[in-house]
Amino acid sequence: MKLNANPQGIRELNILIKISQNIISTLQYEKVLQIISDGMAELFEIESAAIYTLEENNELILSATTPPLDPNMPESLRRALLENHPHVRNAIESKKPQHIPDTGKEKLSPSEQNIVDLRHLQSLLYFPFIQEEKSIGVLILGTCNKTRNFNKEEISFGQTIANQLSVAIQNTLLHADLKRHKENLEKLVHEKTLELDKTIDELKKTNKELISKNDIIFNQNAELKTALINLRNTQAQLFQAEKMASLGTLTAGVAHEINNPLNFIAGAYEGLNNYLNSKCIDDKNEFSVFLGSIEKGIKRISNTVMGLNYFSSENNSMDEKCQIHFVIENCLAIINSKINEKIEILKEFSPDELIVKGNISKLHQIFLNLLGNAIEAITEKGKIKITTERKNNWIITEIIDTGKGIPKNIIGNITDPFFTTKEAGQGTGLGLSITYNLVLEHNGKLEFESEITKGTTARVLLPTFEKHE
Ligand SMILES: Nc1ncnc2c1ncn2[C@@H]1O[C@H](COP(=O)(O)OP(=O)(O)OP(=O)(O)O)[C@@H](O)[C@H]1O
Ligand SMILES: [Mg+2]
Repeated sequence: MKLNANPQGIRELNILIKISQNIISTLQYEKVLQIISDGMAELFEIESAAIYTLEENNELILSATTPPLDPNMPESLRRALLENHPHVRNAIESKKPQHIPDTGKEKLSPSEQNIVDLRHLQSLLYFPFIQEEKSIGVLILGTCNKTRNFNKEEISFGQTIANQLSVAIQNTLLHADLKRHKENLEKLVHEKTLELDKTIDELKKTNKELISKNDIIFNQNAELKTALINLRNTQAQLFQAEKMASLGTLTAGVAHEINNPLNFIAGAYEGLNNYLNSKCIDDKNEFSVFLGSIEKGIKRISNTVMGLNYFSSENNSMDEKCQIHFVIENCLAIINSKINEKIEILKEFSPDELIVKGNISKLHQIFLNLLGNAIEAITEKGKIKITTERKNNWIITEIIDTGKGIPKNIIGNITDPFFTTKEAGQGTGLGLSITYNLVLEHNGKLEFESEITKGTTARVLLPTFEKHE
C-alpha cells in the first residue's frame, strides 16, 4: 500500500473519502467504530479487524469487529482485561503502533493465543487511538491464513489515519455524552413536570376545599349575624316589657298614694270655698287668690296622675282612639321636671282634633322618648318646637330641637338596639329602637333630619283614624 497517484493510491484515497463520508453521516458511536473497523480492513486489504475501547478501570471492550460482531453476543464475552492482552497494553501505554509479523513466532498471552487460534490470525497490527495525550482504545488489524510483513511506511500511514479517526471517535463520544445529558435532563424535566402537575392538582383540590369551607363560614357568619340581631331585638323588647311592667306597678302605686291625700285636699278646698262664699267677708278677693292657686295646684296634680295612668296602662289593645294633642300634652306634663328654664317649648298644633288608632300607652312612650332625646340634645339654651298636622291620610308630628345635632356617620344607626353616644351607665340606647318598633306597630314611619350644631327634627307619621275605619 502506497499513497500516490497510481491506481492503488486512488483506491486508497477513495476508501479514505468513503470512511470520512460514512462517519459524517452518523453520530452513533458504535456505528462510527464499525465504519472505522471495516474501512481500515479494506484499506489494508486484510480479512480481520477489531476495535477495543478502554474503560476507566482498565477494562477493554470489544466495540467493533470486521467481519461484524454478532449483535446477540453477550456483553460479558465482549469484555477483556488489559493485563491479559500485553500487545494491546503496549500499544496503549507507549501510544505507538505494534506489529506482529508472524503470530507463530511471537510470544503471546493465553488470551491472545485464544483469539489468534479462533480467527486463524497470522500477522497483527495494533494502532492506538490517541486523544489529548490519552489512549482511548486500540485498532487491531489481522491477516488470516497467511503472514504479511507490514513495512514502516504502511505502519506510519496506518497510525496517521488512526490519529485522525480518534478525533471522530472523540466527537461521537462527546455527542453520546451530550445526548445522555440531554436525555437525563429531559427525564428530569419530565419527572419535575409530573411532580409539579401533582402539586398543582393538590393545590387546586385544597383551594377548592378552602373555597367551599369559606362559603360555609360565610353563610354561618351571616346566620350568626341575623341571630345576633334577632337576639338583640328580643332582648330589647324583653327589657322594655320588664321596665314597663315595673313602671306600671310603681306609677299605679304612686298615683294611688297621691290621689288619696289629693282627695282630702280637694274636699277641704271645696269646704273652704263654700264656707267663704256663705260668709260676708270684706277681703274676699285676697282669699280667692289663694284659693285659685290651690285649685290650680290640685288640677295640675290630678292631670299628672291621670297622665301617669295613661302612660303605665297595661291595656295592649291597638284599637284605642287616641288624641294626639292629648297624648303630647300628657307627655309634656310627665316630663315637665326635665324641662328647665333654658328650654323653651313651642307648640304649633293643628286646629283640628287629630285622632289615630292605636294604643295610648305606647303612643306616650313614643313621644316621651323623642321629647327626652330632644331635651338631652340641648346643653345650653334652646328651643323645642312641636308641630302637628294632617296631610292626606297621615297625621304628622314633628319634634324639632335646636340641640347638638346627629353626626351623618351615625344617623343610620341611632334606631339600632343599644346604640348610644352617652357614657356607660348613662343610657341604655334602647329609646329609639323601642320607639321605632312602636311606630311600626302603629303602621307608621319614623324619620330623622339633622344638622350638626343646628338641631334635629324627629318626624312621626301615623295613619289617620278614619283611614282604619
Ligand atoms: N334629638 C337628638 N339630638 C341629638 N342626638 C340624638 C337625638 N336623638 C337621638 N340622638 C342620638 O341617638 C342616640 C340613640 O338614642 P336613644 O334614645 O336610642 O338612646 P339614648 O338616648 O342614648 O339612651 P336612652 O334613651 O336609653 O336614655 C343617642 O345616644 C344620641 O346620640
Ligand atoms: Mg333616648
